[in-house]
Amino acid sequence: MRLDKLLSNSGFGARSQVKRLIRKGHVTVNGEVVKDPAFHVDPERDEVLVDGEPVFYEENYYVVLNKPAGYVTSTKDRELTVMELLSDLPRFERLFPVGRLDKDAEGLLLLTTDGELAHRLTHPKWKVPKKYYVVVEGKLTEEDVEPLRKGMELKDFKAKPAKVKILKAGEEESEAEIEITEGKYHQVKRMFSAVGHPVKYLRRVEFGGLKLGELSTGHYRHLTDEEVKKLKESVGLNP
Ligand code: URA
Repeated sequence: MRLDKLLSNSGFGARSQVKRLIRKGHVTVNGEVVKDPAFHVDPERDEVLVDGEPVFYEENYYVVLNKPAGYVTSTKDRELTVMELLSDLPRFERLFPVGRLDKDAEGLLLLTTDGELAHRLTHPKWKVPKKYYVVVEGKLTEEDVEPLRKGMELKDFKAKPAKVKILKAGEEESEAEIEITEGKYHQVKRMFSAVGHPVKYLRRVEFGGLKLGELSTGHYRHLTDEEVKKLKESVGLNP
């Protein structure tokens, strides 16, 4: 495998950071300084050192969690974090969440050790779709959701057009699905509040083609190889 990939997978930073490290001569392979990030190494056999410290190769891994309400999306916090739900996984401390869900929100949260993929999935350039199921206050009409579909001005930014489907419209509350490609703070809540229908419940059901499916609340599963491949391809990475 490429030297820069090995270092990036082993926790030395994103591809661009490890390239710099290599070019500056911090890395040796079998005792020789190598300055070419594309240099091929065999992680099982070659001895790779960064500033004299050995590099232990670890495969990246990818899990999807059905987050319950009441957990903060963070690796460290004074409050209960989503990491509590993954602590039986080996090397779980190396996982980090891709994007955020509010403390009171539920649903699909991707976590990975793969810094490059995580970076791209949250970068606006790649417009990764995120779908939410929401319960809102009051009777939601097609007219009400028009601004969400057209794109709307919020306090600090203009939300791009969203796909919105009304599932049920009752007098007291309504249910809907909304798909957005951005991920600003409280975005879905702010969009519905702006048209007079505050969100009472929010669950993410899809993220970049990944589906929550049958996964019960509070549980996680590993992504299949096929799911990882598709996710990578969707943000221009060759698996
Ligand atoms: N939008 C929100 O308002 N909250 C979330 O947790 C995710 C999207």
